[in-house]
Amino acid sequence: MKPPMNPPMKLWEKNTPLDALVELFTVGNDRTMDERLARWDVVGSIAHATMLGQVGLLPMSTAQALVQELSTILQEIDAHGISIEDGVEDIHSQIELELTRRLGDVGKTIHVGRSRNDQVAVDLKLFLRHEMRQLRSDVHARIKIMLDVADEHGTTSLPGYTHYQVAMPSSFALWVGGYAEALLEDLRVVDMAIDAANANPLGSAAGYGTSLPIDRQQTTRALNFDRLHVTSTFAQMSRGRTEKLVAMAMAQVASTLARFAMDVVQYMSQNYALLTLPDHLTTGSSIMPHKKNPDVFEVLRARCNRLQSLPTELALVQTNLPSGYHRDLQFVKDRIIPALDEMRLCVHVAQAMVPHVRPIGGVMHDSRYRYIDSVDRVNDLVAQGVPFRDAYRAIADSIANGTYNAGSPLPDHVPNDASAAIGSPGNPGITLLRERWVSSHPSSHLNSNSNSRSESSTS
Ligand code: ARG
Repeated sequence: MKPPMNPPMKLWEKNTPLDALVELFTVGNDRTMDERLARWDVVGSIAHATMLGQVGLLPMSTAQALVQELSTILQEIDAHGISIEDGVEDIHSQIELELTRRLGDVGKTIHVGRSRNDQVAVDLKLFLRHEMRQLRSDVHARIKIMLDVADEHGTTSLPGYTHYQVAMPSSFALWVGGYAEALLEDLRVVDMAIDAANANPLGSAAGYGTSLPIDRQQTTRALNFDRLHVTSTFAQMSRGRTEKLVAMAMAQVASTLARFAMDVVQYMSQNYALLTLPDHLTTGSSIMPHKKNPDVFEVLRARCNRLQSLPTELALVQTNLPSGYHRDLQFVKDRIIPALDEMRLCVHVAQAMVPHVRPIGGVMHDSRYRYIDSVDRVNDLVAQGVPFRDAYRAIADSIANGTYNAGSPLPDHVPNDASAAIGSPGNPGITLLRERWVSSHPSSHLNSNSNSRSESSTS
C-alpha cells in the first residue's frame, strides 16, 4: 500500500492530539493482532457497503465503487498481507484511510450505520469461525491417522493400568483408539465453538443499534452466518463470550493431546518399556551418551497444558464487565490469536508423531504382569457356575497363598474376538469409530455455511 500522504489522524480525533504514552499503552500490540483480522475486516465491509447501497443509504454507484475498491484491497491483503501504518490506530482505521486515499470523498461514506465496536466484533466472528473450522478439519485428519495406526499395530498386547498399578490386559488398539474416540468427542465441543462464532453482530453499531434503516438480515446472509445476533446489546456482549467458547474448545482438544503425550512419555520410560519412538524423533543429553529423550511429547504436553489456562484467563479479563463495549475486550484478542496458532502447531506435531509411536511388544511375559489376567480367571469360574463373589474370593485367596496359576504369559497379540464385549481388547471397536469418523467429516457436519468463496465474496 502507498505511504501516507499526511500523518494520519485517529478516526475520532478532533482538536486535541492523544498523549503518546496513553496511545502506546492503550494500543499495545493490537495492531499486530489486527493484521490477522485484516481480510475479515474487508469482507465485513464489503457486506456492509453492499447493504448500504441496497437499502438506499448510499447511492448505488457509491456502494459499487466502495465494494470494488474493497475487493481490490482484499486481493492485495490475501497476496501480501497488510501493515498498519504508524499513527493509525487499528485495522478499521487503516482500511478506511486506504479507501479515502483511493476514492476521496466516496471512501469517507463507508462508516455510516456502524461503529468500530460492531466492526471488530464481526471481524472476530468471521476469523474465529474460519480458524475453528480449520482446527476441526485438522483434528479430524488426525483421528484418521490414529485409527490407521490402531489397525496396523492394534492387536499387540499392552498392560492396562489403574492407580498406576497393573490392572488388566489391554491392547495397542484399545489404547490409541481411546484417544481417537476422545478427539471425536472433542469435535463436538469444537462444533459448539464454531456455532458460537456463526452469528452476525454487524449492525449493532456501538452496541445500541442505529436509527438508520440498515438491513441486518441481509448482511447475515451475505456473510453466510447461521443467524443474526438480534439485540444489539447481546451482539456486543457476544464479544469475549465467543472467544471464551473457542478457548474452551481448544482447551478440550489440548487436554486430550496433553494426556496422550503424557502416556507416550510414561510408556517410553524403561520402567514401562511399552512404546518406542524412532531415534530421529528423540533428543539427546549433553552429558549422558545413552539418552534418547521424548522431548517432543514433553513439549506437546507443556504447550497443551498451558493452553488449558486460556479459558480462565479470558474469563478473568471479562470478570465484572457490565454490558456494553469496553476496551478491556481488546485484551482478549492478543491471547486468543496466538493460542489458535499454538493449538494448530500442537495438532500438526501430534499428527506427525502418531504414526511413529510403536508398541515394543513382547512385554506380557514379565513377572510384574503375573496377575494381570486375574479377572479372566474369575470369569472362568463364573462360566462354570460359581457366583461372582465366590469366584472373586477364590482367586483372591490363591493370589494371597501363592497358588494362583496364571498359566502361560498372555500372548503378544490379542486375538480378535467378536464375541467379546465391544470396547475390550479382543473387540476394540475401531470399525465403529471409523464409521463415526466418516459421519463427522467436516463437509457433512455443521458446515452448511462454510463456503469460503462466499465468505470472501464481493457481492
Ligand atoms: N481495538 C479496539 C478493540 O479491539 C477496536 C474497537 C475500538 N472501539 C472503541 N470504541 N475504542 O476493541
